[in-house]
Amino acid sequence: MKRAILAALGLATSLALPAAADDLKVGLLLPFSGVYAALGNDIEAGFTLALDEFGSDTGVTFDVVREDTEVKPPVALGKAKKLILQDKVDVMAGIVSSGVLGAVRDMVHGAGVPLIVANAGNDDATGASCSPFITRMSFSNGQVNRPMGTWMYDQGIRKVFTLAPDYAAGRQMIDGFTQTFTAAGGEVVGQEFTPFQKTQDFGPYLAQAKASGADAVYVFYAGGEAISFVKQYDSFGLKAELPLYGSGFLTSPLYVNAEGPSAEGVITALHYVPTIDNPANAAFVAAFKAKTGRVPSEFAVHGYDAGRALVTAVQTGARDRETLAAALRKVSFDGPRGALSIDPATNNIVQPIYVYETVAGDDGLTQKVLAQLPAEADPVNGCAMPAVSN
Ligand code: PHB
Repeated sequence: MKRAILAALGLATSLALPAAADDLKVGLLLPFSGVYAALGNDIEAGFTLALDEFGSDTGVTFDVVREDTEVKPPVALGKAKKLILQDKVDVMAGIVSSGVLGAVRDMVHGAGVPLIVANAGNDDATGASCSPFITRMSFSNGQVNRPMGTWMYDQGIRKVFTLAPDYAAGRQMIDGFTQTFTAAGGEVVGQEFTPFQKTQDFGPYLAQAKASGADAVYVFYAGGEAISFVKQYDSFGLKAELPLYGSGFLTSPLYVNAEGPSAEGVITALHYVPTIDNPANAAFVAAFKAKTGRVPSEFAVHGYDAGRALVTAVQTGARDRETLAAALRKVSFDGPRGALSIDPATNNIVQPIYVYETVAGDDGLTQKVLAQLPAEADPVNGCAMPAVSN
């Protein structure tokens, strides 16, 4: 309750007295406006659900200070500074955009504040720019896309045209897919990166895809851009002649019903869909629905598992920045997505990947799991984990 009140007061919490021994100040850095605002809201809903569900008998009060990144790296850096220097948070969670994660990485690492990444897949953050203070509970861009390269080749697809927004996440997701698809023997016959947050008309890119001689199209789009893309792909008449594949954010349960029948039959892969059949997921889906009235998305589960990771760290007795960072790196549990652990070589999550098709269900569109692919750990990607010096 105290957390909810403090969170609602937002900035006012920065004027609060230093935290008592069993109060933890948590900076929640998410987009609450801009193209990824809905994603930020779902992550927050999952995060607060986990603190309520797992944190209530820890004796620790979680004071959450929320800040809006607006999906703008310079804005997010200013907000991260405020959380770290002014609010003196013990731990931070959140971040949706790979661009924002790249912008705040040095600030977080330099200040020695643990950051639980609850979405942004930026490969560098658990690769060449890895940090003992950054633990990722969501996914890496390569991790969710590499399995699809092999899987699509195994389905008989040989030529693919790729599309994604032109920023770190778009480029890394397409790279991950391309690596395994070409290693299997496939060919990327064309590739375009569309201006991020600025492209409204995908027509010229779809015309290129149509003329490319590809057997299929593979894309990454998320949020508002995913809705526009999937609808335009269908209205352009491409769906029947050129099957659409992608990373699963394209048809996230968070906005797939806004895409409507255009999304039916699209095949994508991701580390979570609400139709995964396991007891932890059944309990999570029921609790999230009871709290929000919505089916949880991958974004909700990132928030939920980030909150659960924080509580798990606290349960080991960790209370300050350094002990929390050390404990977060050792977290593992069976959650809604299956068995999760943190790879100590990179601090990235290790988790299974699910290939799913969007199909019509009783209450709108739903996710039919076609295959569960083995748990994916990232290669170290240049990570030489720095020692904690303070
Ligand atoms: C990212 O920028 O890393 C990102 C954003 C939205 C997604 C997935 C990845 O759905």
